[in-house]
Amino acid sequence: MKIESFITGLMMAADFFTKICFLALFLPAFSFASLAESKLLYSYCSNATTLTGNGVYAANINHLFSYLSTNATEHDGFFNTTAGQEPNMVYGLFLCCGDVHPENCRDCINLAAAVAPQLCPNRTWAIIWYEECMLRYSNQSIFSSMAEKPRVDLWHDTNYAPEPERFNRLVGTVMKEIASRASYATLGAKKFATKEATFTVFQTLYSLAQCTPDISSEDCYRCLQDAVRDLLIHSNGNTSGFGLHPSCTVQYQTAPFYNLVFNKTKTAGPPVSPPEKSLLLPPPAPGQFNKILVNK
Ligand SMILES: *[C@@H]1O[C@H](CO)[C@@H](O)[C@H](O)[C@H]1NC(C)=O
Ligand SMILES: *[C@@H]1O[C@H](CO)[C@@H](O)[C@H](O)[C@H]1NC(C)=O
Ligand SMILES: *[C@@H]1O[C@H](CO)[C@@H](O)[C@H](O)[C@H]1NC(C)=O
Ligand SMILES: *[C@@H]1O[C@H](CO)[C@@H](O)[C@H](O)[C@H]1NC(C)=O
Ligand SMILES: *[C@@H]1O[C@H](CO)[C@@H](O)[C@H](O)[C@H]1NC(C)=O
Repeated sequence: MKIESFITGLMMAADFFTKICFLALFLPAFSFASLAESKLLYSYCSNATTLTGNGVYAANINHLFSYLSTNATEHDGFFNTTAGQEPNMVYGLFLCCGDVHPENCRDCINLAAAVAPQLCPNRTWAIIWYEECMLRYSNQSIFSSMAEKPRVDLWHDTNYAPEPERFNRLVGTVMKEIASRASYATLGAKKFATKEATFTVFQTLYSLAQCTPDISSEDCYRCLQDAVRDLLIHSNGNTSGFGLHPSCTVQYQTAPFYNLVFNKTKTAGPPVSPPEKSLLLPPPAPGQFNKILVNK
């Protein structure tokens, strides 16, 4: 008895210790992903509305949202399904960011489904991008095909890197690598990759690339390349940028914004030249962008 309870106590202590370590190790990365409600990045709604119908299509959108929500902890962060019958069928899907835990994925999808009717009231189709997930629905099939429009680039107006051209080149180099890694991920794996790179001794670049897993590697690579090219033209040396396409997203910031445990490599960028301290800017608050460019 005594030995048993001792062992149990030891195991509990060990378990407790493991959990503490786990928390201590991952808290800085997790705190962003799990403690805060995911922030809305952008929502794009069709101009066309469902109001001319008999309400069946609108009801199907609600059914679709409940299917997406109830399936959100499964399917490894991506799910596509339909609701209703033609001609009122609704096609829908969600994608959660590759590092997001199933519970947070579900919370994000629930949130997106809850706000969608307010953001896009009675619209025929819409895409809603959150930091942690994307929800998309349409009256036409959107499955297994790469879509590049509508796309949105977001960046901050003021936060430019001390050497914007070198920063832009570093983003381009890192993005090229992770675009390739995400696209040609092993079959069945998420099309998702992240990487950190040193810009200066004071600034690290954090980058992320992801495609919906239902498109081919070639389409994913093309989608990411186009997204990076567009974003770099617009953000142009800015210390943060989001390129949101229906089939892929690219994001970079100079503060960690994804779960670092998923990242395997840390390599130095081009030669480091320490900037003057006065040129360093605080990391931008996520979700607040003052530059938005929409390409319909
Ligand atoms: C959608 O509506 C907006 C605002 O009314 C208008 O400016 C835009 O031209 C419309 N787009 C299309 C494709 O009809
Ligand atoms: C998941 O989605 C399907 C439709 O594709 C739906 O029938 C089902 O009720 C949803 N929920 C669960 C928990 O499977
Ligand atoms: C999801 O998309 C695939 C590819 O188009 C399709 O075969 C499958 O039936 C879809 N799943 C559902 C539940 O509609
Ligand atoms: C959307 O449609 C429903 C029913 O078709 C209607 O009750 C509701 O007022 C509409 N919402 C908006 C914002 O137009
Ligand atoms: C989808 O809705 C748009 C706008 O209402 C309409 O023009 C189009 O024909 C619809 N497509 C299908 C396949 O129902």
